[in-house]
Amino acid sequence: MNDRPASGPGARHLSAVPDPVAVPERAAGALPRPAFEIAAGHAFAGPALDLGALMWEGRCLPDAQVLLPLSSLTRHGLVAGATGTGRTRTLQLLAEQLSAQGVPVLLTDVRGDLSGIAEPGEAGTGVTGRATEVGQRWTGAGRPTAFYGLGADGAGVPVRATVTGLGPLLLARLLGLDAVGEETLARVFRYADAEGLELVGLDDLRAVLTDTGTVGGPGGPGGVPSGAAGAVLRAVSAFEAREAAGALFGAPACAPADFLRLTADGQGLVSVLEPGSARDHPPLWTAFLMWLLAGLYEALPVVGDVGRPRLVLLVDEAEPLFSGASPAFLEAVTRTVRLIRSKGVGIFFVTRAPQDVPADVLGQLGNRVQHALRAFSAEDREALRATVRDFPESAYDLGELLTGLGTGEAVVTVCGEHGAPTPPAAVRLRAPGSRMGPLDPAALRAHAERSAPAPARPRGGGAGNGNGTRAGITRSLFGTATTGHRN
Ligand SMILES: Nc1ncnc2c1ncn2[C@@H]1O[C@H](COP(=O)(O)OP(=O)(O)OP(=O)(O)O)[C@@H](O)[C@H]1O
Ligand SMILES: [Mg+2]
Repeated sequence: MNDRPASGPGARHLSAVPDPVAVPERAAGALPRPAFEIAAGHAFAGPALDLGALMWEGRCLPDAQVLLPLSSLTRHGLVAGATGTGRTRTLQLLAEQLSAQGVPVLLTDVRGDLSGIAEPGEAGTGVTGRATEVGQRWTGAGRPTAFYGLGADGAGVPVRATVTGLGPLLLARLLGLDAVGEETLARVFRYADAEGLELVGLDDLRAVLTDTGTVGGPGGPGGVPSGAAGAVLRAVSAFEAREAAGALFGAPACAPADFLRLTADGQGLVSVLEPGSARDHPPLWTAFLMWLLAGLYEALPVVGDVGRPRLVLLVDEAEPLFSGASPAFLEAVTRTVRLIRSKGVGIFFVTRAPQDVPADVLGQLGNRVQHALRAFSAEDREALRATVRDFPESAYDLGELLTGLGTGEAVVTVCGEHGAPTPPAAVRLRAPGSRMGPLDPAALRAHAERSAPAPARPRGGGAGNGNGTRAGITRSLFGTATTGHRN
């Protein structure tokens, strides 16, 4: 699938330094000058992902390959574009090449249309025609894949969290609490900590809240006023009425190390995480995502700048992470994204437009794959202008280019090997080698069975955490409802 090293078109024609003298004559002669300069800015000597072929003046130039260096992946990234423009396939392309190059991937699959990554894709005009155009030697290949699901209703290993493990900030978001509610929960958690109480499910939380006269009593544990505790209790009941919450809380059935696995022959495992019953409840899904991220952060040692990431997290449909979040939650997300880099973890978000991502987070996303944008409404046009402003200077008319891109085409700028952004490049992206779309349910079950981490960890909810290291897992990043934090 990855056919670039040494003999690939990228290695054949382009040097890591944009130095025309160093570029073989054939490519230098074949490419128009501006295209040559853009292509040279996207050619890297070290290990890299092959994104596709450069496009210039409506033509696809297979001699000019656009690469994304592995060393840049911890600078994080954004894949944006209007619906149907190819964003999910771009994630699939990144995931399968990372896996082939020995980097484990955690892939969130909100719509269930990424499970096909486990099986070879089928040759067809959409794939082989594209491959010929972009200079890709396409072969159908599935990747080693493990499946995880939130709660117990999916095919994958159920991912669960304890109330204690989630921490007050994530739980407040889950329960839809306001700032007062967040503070109430923070106090309750401090009280439970001081008393050495492990809160597994929501019943445990309810018990602490109603304990020793909290509700209706003069003070209650941790100094929580009864009115405030009552409001949280009502939110807990409303949440339980809405959600299959019982299935989601319990002893975790997986640990961060499960997502870092390699196969015996050194391929990175692709862990596909499906939202299960949380599909229709974005706050639940996003709270769990951030819990996972915080868990990874906690579990991994600092590695600093690495030549290749230890794990890349690809988050499809990431808008709910940011929309309607409290300032404290957003601050925690921002902090997590900033700090997790030092642990060798890269994150790519998929959204409709860059403006869906808060500026503080966006500023940390060094790699951009911008698919087509629409310019139908005044709002669209403003978003387009803002997107163009955010790109480095370009030889293209970016406004025109971005509205005219076809499916599976994008404008790419990446964080170059020395940290500077590369010149924007219009790219016709390669076709994924794995199947585009979902596996059928029987195949999914079979893959899920085969791929479960062994030995299987406890799957049931109920009493007992059974894993002491999970208790404080979100403490450093999401542990308080205020701005206090360790880092
Ligand atoms: N790189 C690619 N190679 C081959 N086909 C592609 C590629 N990108 C997109 N396509 C085609 O376009 C279709 C839509 O792509 P995709 O599902 O990735 O879009 P999306 O932006 O994620 O859309 P949605 O808004 O529905 O999530 C794919 O099913 C596939 O047929
Ligand atoms: Mg999609």
